[in-house]
Amino acid sequence: MSEDIAADYVMDLDRTREQLLVFAREVGEAYRRERRQKATLDRLVEERRAVDYSMVQTLAFMVDAKDAYTGSHLERCRTYGLALAEAVDADMVSPELEYGFLLHDVGKVVVPEAILDKRGPLTRDEEGVMRTHVSVGLKIVSPLKFLTHEALDVIRCHHEWFNGEGYPEGLRHASIPVSARVFSVVDAFDAMTTDRPYRNALPPDLALERLAAGAGKQFDPDVVEVFTGLAHLLPVPEIQIA
Ligand SMILES: [Fe+2]
Repeated sequence: MSEDIAADYVMDLDRTREQLLVFAREVGEAYRRERRQKATLDRLVEERRAVDYSMVQTLAFMVDAKDAYTGSHLERCRTYGLALAEAVDADMVSPELEYGFLLHDVGKVVVPEAILDKRGPLTRDEEGVMRTHVSVGLKIVSPLKFLTHEALDVIRCHHEWFNGEGYPEGLRHASIPVSARVFSVVDAFDAMTTDRPYRNALPPDLALERLAAGAGKQFDPDVVEVFTGLAHLLPVPEIQIA
């Protein structure tokens, strides 16, 4: 009798071991399947992002090429802007923010070269045409559903002034998204340190003085202070400060 019980016990053990092996194989297979699915998903996301990025680049560099005097304005603004955003609030940095930096002036495709390249101040009407580049830019990018508010905020608000005297909405202080407050500083700095149709480039230290003079008026003073602290660290020859 006791031998029968022992035999049953051994059979139960064998059956349990087999069940455990089957279970382990199934778990292993499910895990490998999930890993493969995740790798496929990651690849698709990566490919999608590459397509988005090339579309943004195409649109952005179309404008950069039109405005011959700005040269590699976009590349420099992206470099300065990402460094400044990182220093102001690292959580702000994202691919979408970079898209906004690249596309900030996309609406300038509708502004005639005669206005873009004009030597001397713009007339009231010309200024009006120039200002339309903000709303036109938003319209151009509106079909690009992958552009989040991080990108759209920069396009919409990069000409707002800290004191409320900017356009298109006359927003002021914290009602201007911080990404746009960051971008307006680097945009102005690059414009000042680059040859323009109506004047030669300013030396970087003089451009920083102009930014400081505009702090609290055109620019967020805290953002200007951060930029002044990091400008000499940026790995761009044009802004190496003695
Ligand atoms: Fe602009």
